[in-house]
Amino acid sequence: MKKIDHGKGKQRIFSLDEPNSLHTEMYRQIRTNIEYSSIDRDIKVLNVTSTNANEAKTTTACNLAVLSANKNKRVLLMDLDLRNPSIHRLFKIKNYNGVTDILIDFTKYGDKLDITKYIQLIKHPNIINELFVLTSGTDTVSPFEILNSKRLSKLIEIFKEYFDEIIIDSAPSGILADGVVTSKLADGTIFVIESGKNKIEMTQKVISQLSNIGVNILGIVLTKLPNKIRNYGSYYGKYYTNKTSQERI
Ligand SMILES: Nc1ncnc2c1ncn2[C@@H]1O[C@H](COP(=O)(O)OP(=O)(O)O)[C@@H](O)[C@H]1O
Ligand SMILES: [Mg+2]
Repeated sequence: MKKIDHGKGKQRIFSLDEPNSLHTEMYRQIRTNIEYSSIDRDIKVLNVTSTNANEAKTTTACNLAVLSANKNKRVLLMDLDLRNPSIHRLFKIKNYNGVTDILIDFTKYGDKLDITKYIQLIKHPNIINELFVLTSGTDTVSPFEILNSKRLSKLIEIFKEYFDEIIIDSAPSGILADGVVTSKLADGTIFVIESGKNKIEMTQKVISQLSNIGVNILGIVLTKLPNKIRNYGSYYGKYYTNKTSQERI
């Protein structure tokens, strides 16, 4: 079996660069599971969070967004990890005219805002339809206030008219509440857990905190499994639906 080695600084989006790889197949299965778990409720805004940084939220969100744009006509991937934004690096684009900037202009222009000035179209032969990225934008001293603002939820309402699916790459939810407030903006949340690194109690606490405030946790993605417990199905990660997740972590 091939060993996966991401190597530092070489972060890649497999569903973009290697659409036929096992890694991409894993993300495809996650997408299918999301669709099955949400048959009764349309998931238009999907959020990805975790307990801590570095658990693979951004990697998961980017891959899900690429696969979504191969199915949905127009998809938006938003970087709402305002303290540690990184989507622009994965797609090799500029962090320019992003979330913080559009929100300032939204106050000025209201509904007359031209959102096309802020979103960047990702051009790649392996993207069938349209994938747009809204980067985090100019650094801010008050990320939590921005994430918790009415302006942001209003903006997402506008985006819902324009895009078929919106995927939020969120901040961690463990120490600061950034990821918790962005989970509230979404119809469903995917919770990413890096295997072996987390204290189970902390992860359980964060998941129940999210559930208690009404966040719809669709499932758990377990990433970075050690070699010895990898098999074909868990080669690159694993997805549990919310019914089994509580039992297994
Ligand atoms: N499934 C995976 N298996 C192994 N390494 C991974 C996996 N997903 C992501 N990584 C690596 O983990 C690191 C953190 O990923 P990232 O998506 O930026 O995390 P986060 O957004 O949670 O901070 C990166 O170096 C990335 O290449
Ligand atoms: Mg990230």
